[in-house]
Amino acid sequence: MFRLSAIAAILAASCSFVAIADQFQVKASSSIAPTADTLVLLVSPDQLNANPQLEAISKQENFSAAHGKTLNWLAPASPYSQYQRVLLLGTGDSAKLTPYQASLLGATAARSLKGSAANTIQLDASLIKAPIGQAELLAQISHGVNLASYTFSRYHSNKQPPKVRQLHLLSAEQAATEQRLAQLAALSEGVALARDLTNEPANGIYPETFAKQALELRKLGAKVTVLDEKALEKAGLGAILAVGRGSARPPRLVIVHWEGSKQAPVALIGKGITFDTGGYNLKTQADSILRMTSDMAGAAAVLGTMHTLAKQKAPVNVVGLMALAENMISERAYLPGDVITAGNGKTIEIINTDAEGRLVMADALFYAETNFKPRAIVDIATLTGSKVGALGSYYAGIFSKDDNLVAQLTQAGEKTQEKLWRLPMTDEMLPELKSRIADLRNTGSSTGASTAALFLQQFVKDTPFAHLDIAGNALSSSNRGLQTEGATGYGVRLLTEWVLTAE
Ligand code: BES
Ligand code: MN
Ligand code: ZN
Repeated sequence: MFRLSAIAAILAASCSFVAIADQFQVKASSSIAPTADTLVLLVSPDQLNANPQLEAISKQENFSAAHGKTLNWLAPASPYSQYQRVLLLGTGDSAKLTPYQASLLGATAARSLKGSAANTIQLDASLIKAPIGQAELLAQISHGVNLASYTFSRYHSNKQPPKVRQLHLLSAEQAATEQRLAQLAALSEGVALARDLTNEPANGIYPETFAKQALELRKLGAKVTVLDEKALEKAGLGAILAVGRGSARPPRLVIVHWEGSKQAPVALIGKGITFDTGGYNLKTQADSILRMTSDMAGAAAVLGTMHTLAKQKAPVNVVGLMALAENMISERAYLPGDVITAGNGKTIEIINTDAEGRLVMADALFYAETNFKPRAIVDIATLTGSKVGALGSYYAGIFSKDDNLVAQLTQAGEKTQEKLWRLPMTDEMLPELKSRIADLRNTGSSTGASTAALFLQQFVKDTPFAHLDIAGNALSSSNRGLQTEGATGYGVRLLTEWVLTAE
């Protein structure tokens, strides 16, 4: 009986996820689209002053062309009378435009045009001489357009079909623009995939349905392996099994390998708790337990990154491991005080069943190091409330003994503005993790985020290793920057940037 209903649920959840609801079909061309009804014109303050007509209207409308400032203009009276509407989009000092700031301009344009009748949009950035070059500028703008247009509408029964708009980029470097557009479209897809998975509630995404979604990456040429309970047992991964045991939806370890080069791989490990009740150490606050549909955001970021790299056919060797389990209460669930044995043979006394993330991650870290001999391991996890207390939601925490890895990742974070701030993880805290009856205990007595990181470090032998704690970063309460309300897809842009640039 249970088996049948479980299969029915898997089938029901197997329809693919709609990624971007407000869709833009983007093209680059060296000539103006004759059918365009809307002009988006990028202007900098100095260009504004160089053009008398623009100067006049901007004075009248008090438009400064500061970065991200917009002026909506119904066009008949403008010098652009072939269009029905014109959106002037300020770039600020164009000599200082970075790729990220260019993407923000796209987000602003998308939000300004939302709900308008614009069907065919001509984007003209030819007045802007940005040091990043025209191809990068245009491709980043359309990346921002895509990310800011994301919505999660799967469960709205009265939803409208997506509004499809044409976006024409005026480019003197058509081939270069198209090439960069394709790369960044793959990145937008990866972010949308991570957001979809994270927005999806726990009755839609659980270990089996997450694994099913990961199998889709075979179509892009990635190798996907799913370890089910039997395989986990065989591999001796007792920690992920212990966490998953209380649920009718059994745990999975999903491995996606993109071998785009013959160099030793880097490994990305994601926490995939598809729901975290806390277990017998139950989460008792309504808002904190409700947020735990997003406790698989680390695994979602890893899958989104793998999707991006495979779609880009990136010349890198990278393996992503996603540790998936549902932390539940039942007669089979693990209990406070239990002693479990992780894949590396270490025994762990369970002090708190709500410190489950580090347990599933411990086995994934061990499995990655022993099976793939990676040259670096980076994990990403919604691991501790303590991190939220320390850093809030603008920065993620980075913990590592490897200064070089911290420098690389921090730089990738600056570039993508998925920013990292280093927090301590030192062996002087190790006594806190000593158990009277086992090798380790699963919580320290203080410094929650740091001892959690140090716990993870015990499962990596000698590979350079960094832990990213993204608790607080996975969800956003508003449309802000490139983010939309709900799941952010935090980490996809950061990890993609790091993998593509890591020496
Ligand atoms: N998934 C939570 C951490 C979390 C908290 C993520 C808030 C996002 C927002 C994690 O599994 C957890 O419950 N951690 C406990 C650990 C404690 C019991 C040692 C925590 O941080 O309170
Ligand atoms: Mn927990
Ligand atoms: Zn958790």
